[in-house]
Amino acid sequence: MSDIQYKFPEGFWWGSAVSATQIEGAADIDGKGPNVWDYWFEQEPNRFFDGVGPANTSQFYYKYKEDIQLLKETGHNSFRMSISWSRLIPNGRGEVNQKAVDFYNQVIDELLLNNIEPFVNLYHFDMPQAMYELGGWESREVVAAYAEYASVAFDLFGDRVKKWFTHNEPIVPVEMGYLYGSHLPDTVDFHKAVIAAYHTMLSSAKAIEKYREKNLDGKIGIILNLTPSYPRSQHPADLKASTIADALFNRVFLDPSVKGIYPDDLVELIKAEGFMPHIEAGDLDTIFNNTVDILGINYYQPRRVKAKENMPNPYAPFTPDRFFDYYDMPGKKMNPYRGWEIYAKGIYDILINVKENYGNIECFISENGMGVEGEGRFLDENGVINDDYRIDFYKDHLKWIHQAIQEGSNVKGYHVWTFMDNWSWLNAYKNRYGLVAVDVHGDNSRTIKKSGKWYKQLSDNNGF
Ligand code: NOJ
Repeated sequence: MSDIQYKFPEGFWWGSAVSATQIEGAADIDGKGPNVWDYWFEQEPNRFFDGVGPANTSQFYYKYKEDIQLLKETGHNSFRMSISWSRLIPNGRGEVNQKAVDFYNQVIDELLLNNIEPFVNLYHFDMPQAMYELGGWESREVVAAYAEYASVAFDLFGDRVKKWFTHNEPIVPVEMGYLYGSHLPDTVDFHKAVIAAYHTMLSSAKAIEKYREKNLDGKIGIILNLTPSYPRSQHPADLKASTIADALFNRVFLDPSVKGIYPDDLVELIKAEGFMPHIEAGDLDTIFNNTVDILGINYYQPRRVKAKENMPNPYAPFTPDRFFDYYDMPGKKMNPYRGWEIYAKGIYDILINVKENYGNIECFISENGMGVEGEGRFLDENGVINDDYRIDFYKDHLKWIHQAIQEGSNVKGYHVWTFMDNWSWLNAYKNRYGLVAVDVHGDNSRTIKKSGKWYKQLSDNNGF
């Protein structure tokens, strides 16, 4: 009787992901300390789309019970959230905020009560302001404070949370903060970028070490945005450029997280430029001995790469662009509502790469989704957003995930970005991604979109 064409393995995790700063609101309520976003908004509100800052995010802090019912109504059996470091430990280290403990306990318990498994991430771009003042990821003191924060979180919530993640997209604060100026410290400095990336990696391994010491019966991993790197042509120069992009943006965290070692070509490149970070005795052992149990993969679009056509200006600031250019492949399929490429097969290429080159480690798609600017135009007469384009986007990607499973991929689930329309850093509410619409300029009321209803069927049928 079933007309399900793409059936997924039993127990497949259907869900979505969110992050604390992007949904909680209550930015300076109940003892929460400021993080870099609160601080930056105070300094430069005009950098933020429509001048909307992190205090105005969708108020999950107050509405979590209602939202968890919506998670059920949209078919979630699992849900990734993050803990706000500066809510739990307002100064980044030292005293723990009991109000935050109560809040996260209530959320976790409410999820479990509704048979939704919490996947908890410890760091999602939200450096506590006090830690930023110490140098953020440039500082080893911050690495130590982060490991301590992770340890506190494991003690408080590790009895119920069985899936932990140390970082979300750790390359993003490095790129955006030190190369492209859309996160603090808003600078262009490749040497500092390398240091920040190295310390972030070290902090992940130190958190995993703490987790293992406690003998909790869960799993711990990391969430990486893997962006497949495709060369423009098979010309050796393009192949090399593409391999460099892959090393700088993917393997820089993938290899040490899964294999415990940095890729040789990356190390050579950094050495050749004279940008090696300071490595203390024992660091590399810590990284080697504390690899992940599980890998979360965020996928949006690939990176199309071509070799540099002109000699780079040796006096230009050092950025990865010294090595390659981005290739605007003619005829590629674009998201018409936000300028990102749509290339569903990329998700399959990643999964097969993980299967073949990373020991087929247990993994899941931890973010995938389609942002739309001006989504209000798709509102129908019943007040529902008719986002068929998003349903098609999910289906296209799920077909490729299904194919990878047929070929032996150890992928265990699919989480979309995101549950409800949320605030996205400097872009604030510019692009909407949710299964659920939020009246962000009104009373924050929530309405399930057509995709949210479809997602429920998908999960109920364990396929489509
Ligand atoms: C990935 C990030 O994890 C998330 O914070 C962001 O909002 C989405 N991408 C959409 O850009």
